[in-house]
Amino acid sequence: MANGFAKNLIINNNEAVLNLESAATFLGISTATVRNWVKCGHLQTFEDKKHFFHKKDVEDIKSKILSGDLEKLNRRANKAKADKTFVPDEYAKDRYSFDELNFIVDFIKSNNIELFPALLLISLNLLKKEGVLLSVSIQDVVQKKDLSFTNKQIKEEIISWILEIDEGKIKEEFSFLLDCNIPKQRDVLGFLYQSLLLEGKKSQSGSYYTPSNIVDEIVADYAKRDSKVLDPCCGTGQFLLAFSDVVENPENIYGVDFDEIAVRIARLNLLIKFKGRDFAPNIVCKNTLFDIGNYDLFSLNDENIRNFDVIATNPPWGVHFSKEDSGRLKKTYPTITSLESFSYFLKKSLDLLCDGGISSFILPESILNVKTHKDIRGIILKNAQIKKITYLNRVFKNVFTPVIRLDFKKSEVNNGRIVICKENKSYSIEQTRWLQNQDLVFDIHASEFDAEIISKIYSAKHTTLENKADWALGIVTGNNKEFIADEPKDGFEPIYKGKDVEKFILDKPSSYIQFVPEKFQQVAPTGKYRAKEKLIYRFISKYLVFAYDDKQQLTLNSANIVIPKISNYPIKVIAALFNSSLYQFIFQKKFSSIKILRSHIEQLPLPLWNGEIFSEIIELVDGTMNNEGNFMKLDNYIMDKFTLSSKEKDYINEFNK
Ligand SMILES: C[S@@+](CC[C@H](N)C(=O)[O-])C[C@H]1O[C@@H](n2cnc3c(N)ncnc32)[C@H](O)[C@@H]1O
Repeated sequence: MANGFAKNLIINNNEAVLNLESAATFLGISTATVRNWVKCGHLQTFEDKKHFFHKKDVEDIKSKILSGDLEKLNRRANKAKADKTFVPDEYAKDRYSFDELNFIVDFIKSNNIELFPALLLISLNLLKKEGVLLSVSIQDVVQKKDLSFTNKQIKEEIISWILEIDEGKIKEEFSFLLDCNIPKQRDVLGFLYQSLLLEGKKSQSGSYYTPSNIVDEIVADYAKRDSKVLDPCCGTGQFLLAFSDVVENPENIYGVDFDEIAVRIARLNLLIKFKGRDFAPNIVCKNTLFDIGNYDLFSLNDENIRNFDVIATNPPWGVHFSKEDSGRLKKTYPTITSLESFSYFLKKSLDLLCDGGISSFILPESILNVKTHKDIRGIILKNAQIKKITYLNRVFKNVFTPVIRLDFKKSEVNNGRIVICKENKSYSIEQTRWLQNQDLVFDIHASEFDAEIISKIYSAKHTTLENKADWALGIVTGNNKEFIADEPKDGFEPIYKGKDVEKFILDKPSSYIQFVPEKFQQVAPTGKYRAKEKLIYRFISKYLVFAYDDKQQLTLNSANIVIPKISNYPIKVIAALFNSSLYQFIFQKKFSSIKILRSHIEQLPLPLWNGEIFSEIIELVDGTMNNEGNFMKLDNYIMDKFTLSSKEKDYINEFNK
């Protein structure tokens, strides 16, 4: 029994009683779910006290769950695993609000109430609490009675919702949603919508809404009383509501999204915010990438949908477009070659800003340095002055990518300084520097001195492995328990994992496999593993670690393979460069990644030195591999060949300590 449980056990008239928290802990569910079980009659409270239970009842229910008798409740207890929705707690105001909202979500799910009717009932409840709707009952809604609102626009909005809902979708048992407590927080409807939206659908359209602290900071930085502002993929209106705290005229707040329910919520949110005003929100259900910025959208006047002072959003990332949409996008945005959804939105926002207008976008870190995003980096560098890049790290539950905020001003003059904010530190970088970087990488982790060193390395005549190497991933067996042995066996051979890969050499193997490629889940063509010479590198790693292999060894998926194909460029020289402290420095400063991606490796320079230098490096590599030489000597030799000063060498050595 958990300590908390024992502590909260109360003996009352010789009966053991549990409070709400202990019951929840004991059952392994949230307090909101316990309350919901009470509501649904699965669990009795103690003497009608809302937050207390007979210990015996709680134990009974637990044993029923364990024995499988209570299938349905069991499913609820395992809710997080069983269904594919989740409550985005980063989006809730505080723990109390989160629990309250979770309670409502649980009620909706356990009563199988459809999304749209549920949102309508909660909205009516909210409107009642806001004093905009005088009274309402389930019967009024079922019979589509004329409800009395104090605001004409809101009335029209709600009538259009009610007309959308089919007969029979709203039942008397749902009346709880009309009366339940709703915590006071911004975009409470959006929170519920996010919580009820299926995870699959969310990731398909990139619908992860932005936590309010991030939204507020952006708005505070740029919006003014008379600004004309837009969120081009507004969801339920997080940004629009934040704008409404600053922008005086609601008609200057524009939003677009192609999700109809999200747009309805965003419109209602804004109407509630300005409930004393008579206005129609400029928030529409359209596809921003095809239907905005052309003509006749918000009004007949094209001018209205251009010339924004501020555009702020968290656009969808990594959307898989249909074949038809991809074709259309390629035609409409010929300069975006990556087919990346956030890049289209960035380009669109540049088109829709006024001169001097500012955009702030929440984006994955990969925009800064992944080669495919060179297209949009180039467009931004040439058409805008980047003002600030803020490293936010992980922001969204269930989205593991590090996140940045990118702020830029539409401007033809773009040679100013960019402020980089990271972990409470800030420094600035000249924008022109990035125009000179290979693939226009935004190396935010490199200071000016770092950049000078990197540019010195790249200024040496060089080639790269791009289009000049074969690549292979390690084997994915599909079932390591079945295929991998941890001792040598007849017919088995060593197979190397990432952790077995050291600089230049492979460690003693700790795993063995029978090579039957047809049985594995994912395997590269055999010839790649069996290449005469190859480099094996750790895939998940902060450091570049490349082993040289001429024994045709196999690797598992944590160790990948590159087979360089540059004539007269010795593979051991490539290993020496990639393993060196200097390249570690370049890698960290340019990419700051914990995964060694092929696109990163392809950007590392291979200097075109003469055969004599190559021979000396090979000799030093062989010495290191045979434990005769020393790695420091090789490391120094490489730095010397790039003619680094002793100050630069000390700096790099210090960095690598
Ligand atoms: C990551 S959510 C962000 C919502 C909101 N901007 C925020 O930050 O909370 C992305 C939104 O983009 C919308 N969306 C995706 N593609 C769109 C398109 N082509 N046109 C309009 N909206 C789109 C999705 O429906 C979703 O609401």
